[in-house]
Amino acid sequence: MAATTKETIDLLLESYSMELETVMNYLANSVNLDGVRAEEIKKSLGADVPGEIAHAQQLAHRIKQLGGQIPGSKALVLGNQIQPVTVTTDVVGVIKSVIAAEEAACAQYKKIIKAVEGEDYVTQDLCIRLLADEEEHLVQFKGFLKEYTTG
Ligand SMILES: [Fe+2]
Ligand SMILES: [Fe+2]
Repeated sequence: MAATTKETIDLLLESYSMELETVMNYLANSVNLDGVRAEEIKKSLGADVPGEIAHAQQLAHRIKQLGGQIPGSKALVLGNQIQPVTVTTDVVGVIKSVIAAEEAACAQYKKIIKAVEGEDYVTQDLCIRLLADEEEHLVQFKGFLKEYTTG
């Protein structure tokens, strides 16, 4: 049975929190890292920040359309992702944390896509598009990991 509107809103709110947590952690890692080997990763993460904000905005609009409200910072569920590295040359640590965040985002979008099947095609379409973006990030960072662990 497809999710109720309330259940769909709650699932979208979970993704909304995850996207905003991603913004904070990518932003931090994109600035904190040091060294020649870090430059490309910093650039890539910095460029992803506005993209992840755009994901949160699209989710917020859908939540509103469904009759929900967008919470403020107090109600966000944060702290579930790997925190920014403390050793500022730990490029591999950053890459692994990005892969974990992207895998979690993909899993959550797949969950919503299945939950609304047969009922809410607009939410499903949005989550399919967001899933496509996250899969692209995932492939990119898996590629970085290959290079940084064999190079
Ligand atoms: Fe995202
Ligand atoms: Fe992403």
